[in-house]
Amino acid sequence: MHIALAPMEGVVDYLMRQLLTEIGGFDLCVTEFVRVSDTVFPDSVFYRYCPELRHGSETLAGVPVHIQLLGNHPQLMAENAHKAWRLGAKGIDINFGCPARTVNKNKGGAALLVDTEILHTIVKAIREAVPADTPVTAKMRLGLEDKSLALDNAIAIAEAGAENLTVHARTKVEGYKPPAHWEWITRIRENIDIPVTANGDIWTPEDYDKCRQVTGCEKVMVGRGALTDPFLARNIKQREAIEPSADLHWLATRKIIGELANRITLAREDETEMTRVNIRDGERYLMSRMKQWLALMSKRNTLAADFFKQFRLIKCPQQLLETLQSV
Ligand SMILES: Cc1cc2nc3c(=O)[nH]c(=O)nc-3n(C[C@H](O)[C@H](O)[C@H](O)COP(=O)(O)O)c2cc1C
Repeated sequence: MHIALAPMEGVVDYLMRQLLTEIGGFDLCVTEFVRVSDTVFPDSVFYRYCPELRHGSETLAGVPVHIQLLGNHPQLMAENAHKAWRLGAKGIDINFGCPARTVNKNKGGAALLVDTEILHTIVKAIREAVPADTPVTAKMRLGLEDKSLALDNAIAIAEAGAENLTVHARTKVEGYKPPAHWEWITRIRENIDIPVTANGDIWTPEDYDKCRQVTGCEKVMVGRGALTDPFLARNIKQREAIEPSADLHWLATRKIIGELANRITLAREDETEMTRVNIRDGERYLMSRMKQWLALMSKRNTLAADFFKQFRLIKCPQQLLETLQSV
């Protein structure tokens, strides 16, 4: 049983990785993507995306964190991977799935899925740029507009030396529209000889069971499901409280929100801590993260949904803490 926390740009950052891995159930985290375009980044950029580099490239709960790179220039990607490794990254992941228009316009992320050869070249260049005992992994969608190259792309990535391939079972044009096509993950797994991590639409322990049954994968990655239910990974593993009551769930969720607000309030008073947790603009940062997170939690938790309505009127972490005390 191996559960990875999905990289999620704008949502799963240092703080969220800390909080979710403290709750437990996760075996691996991946940073938000670092977009490589025309330079080898200074150390500070890697520390910003992955403050865990300062403590062994692991969250405080001891879960390894890999750095994800996105870009289309093999040599530059390789040089940045080397730099990340030199700073202590436990592994390098390559993004072949991002659907964002700006990223795709610059031929990055999912846009590369029409060019099997470039996928191979990028993976190979990165594989050669870091020592063999540092895992180089990739994460792909099934294609850009259709799935015709899904198998070729997966094979190219595996043959170039990737150690693991995570497959988000949708094309770019399918966006996040359900269902995820898990049966394609099965086909990919059967055609390559590296482990495949199944990704897409695991919201409950039952989804987890079904996904594993369909795909035959030992490893899964969960993203939105883990934010909607911060106990998902732990419950998948422990099966102790598959359906915690709404009250219990909300109590725990409230604790997490309070903790996040507290940490940011504290961080704002301490420059060193601020740098460490990557908060350039504490209040705006907290509020935008909270908004995304509460929006996801509200899907499955009516108490979170009620709180989300109040949240819209809240202006700063202090007010957030006060409001939390009154609900
Ligand atoms: C807001 C958001 C940000 C994301 N950012 C990234 C990213 O930085 N890198 C990446 O490989 N995938 C990214 N993804 C895709 C997720 O990692 C994952 O593949 C997708 O959400 C499907 O998994 P899920 O159904 O468990 O959420 C992002 C998804 C969302 C919703």
